Amino acid sequence: MRIAMMMAAILLAGCGTRVPDAGQQMYGAYCANCHGPVGQGDGPLAADLPVAPPDLTRLSAGNGGAFPYSDVMAQIHGYPGRFHVMPEFGTLLKGRRIPWKNEMGQTVDTPVALVQVTEYLVSIQQP
Ligand code: HEC
Repeated sequence: MRIAMMMAAILLAGCGTRVPDAGQQMYGAYCANCHGPVGQGDGPLAADLPVAPPDLTRLSAGNGGAFPYSDVMAQIHGYPGRFHVMPEFGTLLKGRRIPWKNEMGQTVDTPVALVQVTEYLVSIQQP
């Protein structure tokens, strides 16, 4: 119980203050093998994939300077139709959910882990 409460506190802290630590750890554990240590598409598995993993530091640049939140989150989550070479992380992201406001101002019930890993991606964007 105490551990569960500590975890909740850590998750809340990471989320409220927008510190990307939890998301960064998740990125390192689940994404870096393909997308590279800092998201440039140069992970150790990249060369063996039929489709090159995109450079995740250029998501905003490729979208007129605005981070494409909904698109990115849909891709990570593996919403129907988005599954291709990249594995689906929906199962991994089943934990606690929070209300998250998307770029259209709509509030969406979203797994905390998905918000955190997305915030990490926001933090590595290059102009
Ligand atoms: C097995 C390798 C692999 C892993 C692991 C992986 N990806 Fe991907 N990712 C890809 C490939 C390949 C694509 C290109 C689309 C496709 O083929 O599915 C992609 C596409 C994306 C996109 C869309 C980029 C764009 O230009 O629209 C995002 C965002 C993304 N991945 C984030 C992540 C995150 C975050 C994780 C970890 C939770 C992750 N990926 C784990 C291989 C991977």
